[in-house]
Formats: sequence, C-alpha cells, structure tokens
Amino acid sequence: MTNTTLLIGGTGKTGRRVAERLTARGIDIRIGSRRGTPPFDWDDEITWRPVLAGVRAAYLTYHPDLAFPGATEKVAAFSKLAATEGVEQLVLLSGRGEEVAQAGERAVQSAGTGWTIVRSSWFNQNFSEDFLLEPVLGGDIALPAGDMVEPFTDADDIADVVAAALTDPRHRGQVYELTGPRLLGFADVAAELSRATGRTITYTPITLQQYVEVLRDLGMPPEFAELFNDVLDGRNAHLADGVQRALGRPPKDFADYAREAAATGVWTGTGPAVR
Ligand SMILES: NC(=O)c1ccc[n+]([C@@H]2O[C@H](COP(=O)([O-])OP(=O)(O)OC[C@H]3O[C@@H](n4cnc5c(N)ncnc54)[C@H](OP(=O)(O)O)[C@@H]3O)[C@@H](O)[C@H]2O)c1
Repeated sequence: MTNTTLLIGGTGKTGRRVAERLTARGIDIRIGSRRGTPPFDWDDEITWRPVLAGVRAAYLTYHPDLAFPGATEKVAAFSKLAATEGVEQLVLLSGRGEEVAQAGERAVQSAGTGWTIVRSSWFNQNFSEDFLLEPVLGGDIALPAGDMVEPFTDADDIADVVAAALTDPRHRGQVYELTGPRLLGFADVAAELSRATGRTITYTPITLQQYVEVLRDLGMPPEFAELFNDVLDGRNAHLADGVQRALGRPPKDFADYAREAAATGVWTGTGPAVR
C-alpha cells in the first residue's frame, strides 16, 4: 500500500510541525532523519530506498542548507529515486532569493513526480529553536546584517502550507514564496524580543570576518557566514504573498511569535529542551 507521507527532517523546525498537523488528521507519516526508523541520511545513499517504501508524498528539507555544496546533486538523485519508487508528490523547502537553492528546486520539478516548491525567508524560530537561541539568552544578537531588513517567516505558517501541499492536489505545480507580514531589522527583532521577554536584548552588527569566528566557536559550518552575506544583501527586503495565496489567510506577525515563544519559557530556561 502506498499511502505513507515521508517527512525528511521530520524532527526539525518545520518538519516536526508538519508531522503534528498530519498526525492530527490521521495521516500515516514516516520521519526521515538519521534517528528515524529506518534511519535516513542525506550523506549515505544506502539509507535512501528503504524510507521510500510505500510512500505517496514526501516533504524534502535538506540539512544543513539547500545552498550548500553537494545539496543539489543529492536532492536531484533522491527525487529521481522517489519517482521510480512511485512517489506521486514532492514538496521541497527552499531558501528565498538563493540561486544555488533554485538548482535544487529545478531538480525536484524535473524528477517526474508532482511537486510544490515552498520558498521561505528567515524563520522566526531561529531565535528560539536554533543557533540564535544562545545569543537571545545571552542578551545580545551579533550578526553581520548591518541595518538590513528581513520579512521573517513563522515555522507554523510554513508547516500549514507544507501540510496543505502534501495533501491537496490543488497546490501541485505551485511555487510559494513565504514571508511574514512585516519587514524587520535585527534591531527591531531585538526590541520585539525585549518586549516579549521583559529583558533587554540588543543587536550588534559585526563584520563577516567576525561572524566566521562566532560560527567556529559554535561548531557551525563557516559556509553559513557566506550564505547570510548573500541573503542579507537586500535581495529579500520585500514582502511576498505565499501564505495568503496558499492558505487564504495572512501570515503570523513576529510579535505574536515572540509572545507565544516567551510563554513557553524557552527564553527563561524553563521551556522545552531544544536541540
Ligand atoms: N532556518 C532558516 O531560517 C531557513 C530559511 C529558509 C530556508 N531554510 C531551509 O530549511 C532547510 C532546513 O534547515 P533548518 O535550519 O530549518 O533545519 P531543521 O529542519 O531544523 O533540521 C533538522 C532536521 O534535519 C535532520 N537532519 C540533520 N542532518 C541530516 C542528514 N544528514 N540527513 C538526514 N536528516 C538530517 C534532523 O534530524 P536528525 O538529527 O535525526 O538527522 C532534523 O530532523 C534547509 O534546506 C534550509 O535551506 C531555512
């Protein structure tokens, strides 16, 4: 029977939210991750075919980033394999304004399955569930972003769009560009986080070279500095209508995200553990 929905990165920031939505609707899911059963690893092709058994639709997220070297080739090979294994619909999470990520998009579009591309700007949840959590807890966000503005997207909105694209054929062949409803600079973000937490959180613009050092200390690939430099050069400093177009409702505002995340205790050390 081919009725399972595969969620690659199904324990990550967007994947786990998609898993919650599909499970609540009684849809059979399989988590595709190194800790999944069976395990799936983008870096080990031997693990690819077993997770595709009985799969009708699949959500593809690439870790660490679709714009990283080698990602396009792996996404292309996996998508072709998915088509030969009988997968009918692929939904790809992509970056916004990244030429390299668009090569990954084309690979999915030409694999021979139905497809939906979900491009997103920076996630709100980077501040509560990922590499910017520690800086928020420490009270200062240092990034090589100058006074650039970004229309931060909420992972709940991404998950709603992805869940729809996995289950409703009307989303086939669509490229959705998702943003939040407002352009915010990182100083604005710090002000919103200060308001939500009742603590003082600041933003310090730093140079790209300084940020390479920060990433090294965090054990993160230095390629991220280059990627931030690319996507924070002004190309994404405009809003898009993907959430409205896909779901018929407006996207979530950063202030609502900040209030909800603060209420979980994530910024006081009393919240759920994050990876
Ligand atoms: N963060 C943003 O602001 C942003 C914005 C736009 C687009 N994106 C895109 O979103 C995608 C995901 O990035 P993210 O930062 O949000 O990560 P994420 O989804 O939070 O990533 C973690 C997930 O990936 C799995 N994973 C990690 N390494 C893996 C591997 N080698 N093979 C298989 N699964 C692996 C993890 O599970 P295990 O540890 O069990 O393997 C976990 O389920 C990227 O392609 C990125 O381009 C991100």
